[in-house]
This record gives sequence, structure tokens and C-alpha cells, in this order.
Amino acid sequence: MPYTDTRRSRDSGDNGNARTIVRIDVTMNKTILFSRQAIEEAITELARRINADYRGRPLVVVGILKGSFVFLADLIRKLDLDVTVDFVVLGSYGSGTTTSGEVKMLKDLSAPIEGKDVLVVEDIVDTGVTLTFFMDTLRRRRPASLAICALIDKKARREVQIDVQYVGIEMEDGFIVGYGIDCNEQYRNLPDIWVLRDEDGS
Ligand code: PRP
Repeated sequence: MPYTDTRRSRDSGDNGNARTIVRIDVTMNKTILFSRQAIEEAITELARRINADYRGRPLVVVGILKGSFVFLADLIRKLDLDVTVDFVVLGSYGSGTTTSGEVKMLKDLSAPIEGKDVLVVEDIVDTGVTLTFFMDTLRRRRPASLAICALIDKKARREVQIDVQYVGIEMEDGFIVGYGIDCNEQYRNLPDIWVLRDEDGS
């Protein structure tokens, strides 16, 4: 059933003010941006590249919670490698919905990564602040190698330069939900990725 959502988006405009998200209609296909089929195809290609690059080497896959959990679950099932999985919880602090640049580790890895090949899995790279903090933290633990795999890359919004070795889908600006990605903790369960529209329909 269609309903109105008046929560604020973390995806701010140039003036730093969050936009108001007014409507998502989960019964209409109009706002699907990336279908489950498109997502699946992107992951198949990512897995093909990762399988080729890490062939014969054990791989530690690290998911950043919460957003990455759906993507990670689908990705690892396409990996034909000796895979172990670990998770961290990171928190970013800003005024309301904007990123301040402060990131904190709320839950650390459960095992050391020294000497191991590590692949960090993210749902979205946006400003790059979260991953910059996390990669610096991991680098100090001296893994054998460190790479990033992100389902969505919003390159246009980057504030800090960061190398993302494996990108599933590149997109411009837009507030998206679904496939693990939330708006105030909702919509993570949607199988497709939707774009939320502003009040003026944009
Ligand atoms: C999202 C996403 C990334 C981060 C990217 O997490 O999962 O971790 O934002 O943004 P950045 O590149 O601007 O740092 P969020 O803080 O929404 O938490 P969640 O993973 O629990 O949804």
C-alpha cells in the first residue's frame, strides 16, 4: 500500500541541508533504480574478477555493517575460493544526516589479519570518509593485501580520494534504499534498489 514518508535523508544537498523524503510507493515499479536482475549481473561480474585475482589464495572477506550484509551474502556464494568472513560495525557522527568525518569502530574484527589477503565489502562508497578511516585502521595491522569491493560507487560525491578496486555499479547522486541499504533503518529488506523521490517529484 502506498504511504508517505517524511523522514529526512542523510543525502544532503550542496548547502548541507538534508532533503525531505516524502514518498516511496513499494507497490509501483516506477522508482526502482537497479533491479534484482541488474544487481545479480553486477555481482556475477565482480565475483568473476575476484575469483581470478585471488585464485589459490585464502581470502578474508570483511563486511562493514550494517549496509553490506545482503550484498556480502550474495557475493561470497559466488566466490570459488577459501573464504572466511568477518564483520565490523562503524559509526559516523555528523549533524543529523551529514557526515562529519568522524568515524568510530563500534565492533572490531574478531580475528587478526596480519599476513592475510583482505577484501573489504561495502554497499555504498559515498564521500569516502568511512572507508578512508577503516582502511587506515586495517593497514596498520599489516595484512598481506587489502582491497575494496563496493556494490555502488557514488563517485560524484567523493570528498576524500580512495581507491576502490572492485565496483559493481556506478551512479550519480540520489538517495537509494533496498538490498541492505536503509533510510532510518527501514527498507533494507527490499530485493531491488529504489530511489526515493523528493516532494517536488525530482
Ligand atoms: C553507509 C554505507 C557506508 C557509508 C558510506 O553506512 O554503508 O558504510 O554510509 O558513506 P561515506 O562514503 O560517505 O562514508 P551508514 O552510515 O548509512 O550505516 P549502515 O551501513 O548501518 O546503513
